Order: sequence, then structure tokens, then C-alpha cells
Amino acid sequence: MSDSIILGIESSCDDTSAAVLKGNKILSNIAANQEIHNEYGGVVPELASRAHQQNIIPVVAKAVKEANIHKKDISAIGFTRGPGLLGSLLVGTSFAKSLAMSLEVPLIEVNHLQAHILAHFIDDANPEPPNFPFLCLTVSGGHTMIVLVKDYFDMEIIGKTIDDAAGEAFDKIGKIFGLDYPAGPIIDQLAKNGVENSFKFNKPRIENFNYSFSGIKTSVLYFIQKEVRKNPAFIKENLNDLCASVQQTLVEILMDKLEKAALELNINEIAIAGGVSANSGLREAMQKNAERLGWNIYIPKFEYTTDNAAMIAMVAKLKYDRGEFADLSISASARYDI
Ligand code: KG4
Ligand code: ZN
Repeated sequence: MSDSIILGIESSCDDTSAAVLKGNKILSNIAANQEIHNEYGGVVPELASRAHQQNIIPVVAKAVKEANIHKKDISAIGFTRGPGLLGSLLVGTSFAKSLAMSLEVPLIEVNHLQAHILAHFIDDANPEPPNFPFLCLTVSGGHTMIVLVKDYFDMEIIGKTIDDAAGEAFDKIGKIFGLDYPAGPIIDQLAKNGVENSFKFNKPRIENFNYSFSGIKTSVLYFIQKEVRKNPAFIKENLNDLCASVQQTLVEILMDKLEKAALELNINEIAIAGGVSANSGLREAMQKNAERLGWNIYIPKFEYTTDNAAMIAMVAKLKYDRGEFADLSISASARYDI
């Protein structure tokens, strides 16, 4: 295993992030979140790419400084090629290419979704990394899928959402409740003071290991509209219980299919990844299943769940060891399968 020093750069959505990885150990992991989107209730692509443009140099400079390395020590530059918002990806891609050229080090392209999953192999992500093959429920603002991970770069999507992503469901339902974007972490916080099952929402009936989240969003909307007509203060008076009930339903939907997949594929190495894997309800449900079903569970350290460059550097390191370098003519790719 090489003691390479990799600089990772992530700019696929609304977080500009840079990290330095030495071997498998993170020396720095810096992110600038873009608050500008809060007032719009979602990420505005044009504003996101502009903010990346402003943030990228200070963020990279801070990551290098905090890692206490010199630019000359960098072995390679890893960057998110996709999937994501094209205007956002272009900023990180162009910057990574220029930096690789000027430092005369290899450039390594990284798939953002693989990175969420392979974040589990960062030194301090878990007490132990998962063993192949494992199942990884990958849940973020843009994606919801169950991935069969046979090897580092041999992954198969065995189920995915047919409409909204789980994070999108948290965010859109939060918006109905009048919460800021992104509402996922706010719902998580408020749910702690609420009672689950206070309100019942129907779960979707979807084939195989696939998911659907648009139905629950609509049923919450109709329910809220009906209740608010009777009592304009309904949301305010019941916010914690609403959050607890919605979170519980979303977590149950996610876990039901994961359990089904684990059973049918006879795998008990089970991981979660992506922004929604920060959710405390989902984390608790994983713990319960570990006890009930004998799963070996892998829940990444909090800072490696939402978008971060540490996971990008990790994938770049794995590719560095294999000598898989990108050409400097490479371009960003908004769609990019794992
Ligand atoms: O992975 P991520 O940072 O970005 C994407 O690649 O999409 O995921 C962001 C998503 C957002 O939808 C956000 O609301 C959700 O992850 N999220 C959470 C929590 N923290 C972030 N959802 C529920 N509970 C949380 N604690
Ligand atoms: Zn992500």
C-alpha cells in the first residue's frame, strides 16, 4: 500500500470541498457550504457554479495548509467527474486539470457515487472496513439505490428509486412544513422531540428492490392542506410529531427493501452511504437490524456522509495504486453510471 499524498476535489452539487489523504488517512477535509440556496428551497445550478468558482481556491488552499504539507508533496489530484450538476462539476474539473498540469502530477477522475460507497475505506470511517461482497444503501439528495459491491470497482445496482431520491423526499416534505433547504438534517433534529406514529402515511408498493418516494410527498401535502384548512396553526403545533412520523416512514421504506435484498442475496455485510446516511433514525434502524438479523453493519463517520472531498481522495488513492490516470483532455460528465 503506497503512502501517496492525494488531493481530492469535490464540486458536484452545492458543496465545494477539498481534502488531503496520506495513505488511507485523512489529513484535512475542508468544505464550504453554499447558504445562498436556502432561500430558494433547493439548489440553483447557476448560483452553485458561481459559488464554486469563488470558493475553490480558498478551500483547496485551506486543505493543503491544514494537512501541513507542501504543494510539492502531492502525488496526484483526484476530482469528481460526475454525476452532478454540469456547471458545478466543470469548476472542480477545470481546476483539478490545471493543478495537475502545473504540479506535473497524475490526474485521477472519480465517480461521485462510487466515492460515497468507498468512503468506508478511509482509515477512520469505521472501526473495520466492510468485507466484499457487501450491500450498500446509497441515499443522497440525488440518488437512492441498493448497490451490490463485489469489489472496489465492481458494483451492481440491484434496486433504485423510480422517481424522487430519499433526500429529496426529506427536503420536499420539509418544504411543505415550511422548513429551510436542506430540510433533511432539520427534520432529523426536530424528530428527536417528536413521537413516531403520531401520523400515518402510506408506504408505496413497488416491485423488486426498487423505491418510490413521490407518493408519500403528495400524501403529506394533501394531509397538511386538509389539516391546515381546519386549523391554520396545525403545522406549528405538531411539527415535532410530524417530523418524527415522516422520518420513521421514510426510514421504514428504506430499510424494508434493504432487508429484503440482504435476505434474498444472503449477504449480511450491510453498509449505508450518502447524505441521508447521516440520519439518526436510519442509523438506529441499522443498529436494530444488526441485533435482530445478525448483520455486520457499516455506518460511516458523520463527516464522510454528506458530500465531501475525503471520499473523492479515497477513490483517487485506490486508482493511484492501480495506475489508473486520466488524460488532461477529460471532461466533466453530468450523468455517470457506477
Ligand atoms: O450526499 P449529499 O450531501 O449530496 C448529494 O449527493 O445529493 O446528500 C444531501 C442530502 C440532502 O437531501 C439532505 O437533506 C440529506 O442528504 N441529509 C439528511 C440528513 N443530512 C443530510 N437527510 C436526513 N437526515 C439527515 N440527518
Ligand atoms: Zn453526494
